[in-house]
Amino acid sequence: MRRLLGVSPLLAVVLLAACGETAEPAPPPLPLTYHRDVAPLVQEKCGGCHVEGGIAPFPLRTYAEVFLMRQAVKAAVKARIMPPWSADPDCTEYVQDRSLSDEQIDLLSRWVDEGGVEGDPAEAPANILTPQGGLPRVDLQLSMPVEYSPTQSPDEYRCFMLDWPETEVRYVTGFLATPGRASIVHHIIAFLIPPQDVSTYQALDDADPNPGYTCFGGPGGRGDRVAWIGAWVPGGEGQLFPAGTGLQVMPGSKVVLQIHYNLSSANAAPDRTSIAMSLASSVEKRAIVQPWVDPRWLQDGGMLIPAGQRDVRHAFAFDLAPVLSRVTGGVFRDNEPFTVHGAGLHMHTLGTWGRLEIERKTGARECMLHIPRWDFHWQGSYGFAQPKVVKPGDRIALECHWDNSQPGARDVQWGEGTGDEMCLGTFLMTQ
Ligand code: HEC
Repeated sequence: MRRLLGVSPLLAVVLLAACGETAEPAPPPLPLTYHRDVAPLVQEKCGGCHVEGGIAPFPLRTYAEVFLMRQAVKAAVKARIMPPWSADPDCTEYVQDRSLSDEQIDLLSRWVDEGGVEGDPAEAPANILTPQGGLPRVDLQLSMPVEYSPTQSPDEYRCFMLDWPETEVRYVTGFLATPGRASIVHHIIAFLIPPQDVSTYQALDDADPNPGYTCFGGPGGRGDRVAWIGAWVPGGEGQLFPAGTGLQVMPGSKVVLQIHYNLSSANAAPDRTSIAMSLASSVEKRAIVQPWVDPRWLQDGGMLIPAGQRDVRHAFAFDLAPVLSRVTGGVFRDNEPFTVHGAGLHMHTLGTWGRLEIERKTGARECMLHIPRWDFHWQGSYGFAQPKVVKPGDRIALECHWDNSQPGARDVQWGEGTGDEMCLGTFLMTQ
């Protein structure tokens, strides 16, 4: 009986020997080729910016172009400098993640190390797509009132006020920005200015004789009441608010478009950027962009970053549940859970790293956004692949770090200017 069920020891030896004899030595691995292995990845992950007339300093669209830059490409992807994506992947998972996986970084490096073989163009996958996601529906398009040509090099931050033409309450459910001149537009942030704040921003605009006005960190003002409608960096796709939700816009509001012009790869030329939005007349749930900041930081001396210190930290944690109704103007109910769909973080140029997390009532900590190497030039907001539910008793914790040790440093405080700093979290929430 046992013989029938198992393999006899003798037979096993014979089978093993037979296998050993017939096995071929593993063939040497084929070299990776540009057309088969590298082009699809580079087109998808780099092509939105590294294109003729794009914001990046050189195109990466053909074999010759990528081959020429291969050592720089390897160095930039290994150091995770490119593609620009500041969020730490170990924190949580995001939608529209531009970063490369470890396998993709290995593939690019191996191709470079093997000499950058071209391969056969016929091996290229049929349709290589660069992400060019639009919006499912465009209901409103707003453009800068006039063209503007930047006058400062290499960086200029300029804000333009756009009229909001709708006469009824509307909800923004999707956002997309289109630069007027892609070669100089480094990023675009659209801020929503509610009717009661319009005069503050109008005064800034009126005080500047040229189109728009100079702005740096945000749209001006105190900077703690800003709601982002959306943000765009080159190659950026349309952003949709979570299904069934939208950002309420009252008639009489304005939109301030902050445009970061960068003249590193192209000369100044007139730009007229526009934004497109999907709108709804009503939504199941209102989405609220909640700024997150310790109110004491805005007071004089409240967020001191002393000169000469290499790692200055300011941190803040707070349970929002008891005041939900007050901070949302009565839209959310106090002491009930709410859902967070995405988060952003904002510092100026001395920032080194920052983190936004949920400190659970139980003591557990859940990361929402961790930016290990802050880069002022590549800020954005990050949508979660899975929304996070925050319960009463949980605290939302924000932490920012700065290096103020450079020669000639002076004490720095909260402010809107280039020489000031901020530590501002934002998150998109519904209830
Ligand atoms: C969102 C736009 C964008 C994307 C996507 C992007 N780049 Fe870049 N890249 C830039 C810009 C802009 C610069 C100029 C430096 C800067 O502003 O950071 C740059 C610079 C570089 C440089 C020079 C680095 C240096 O040290 O100066 C290399 C190499 C590079 N990119 C490779 C890549 C590769 C490879 C990819 C895709 C895997 C990629 N980039 C994706 C915008 C982008």
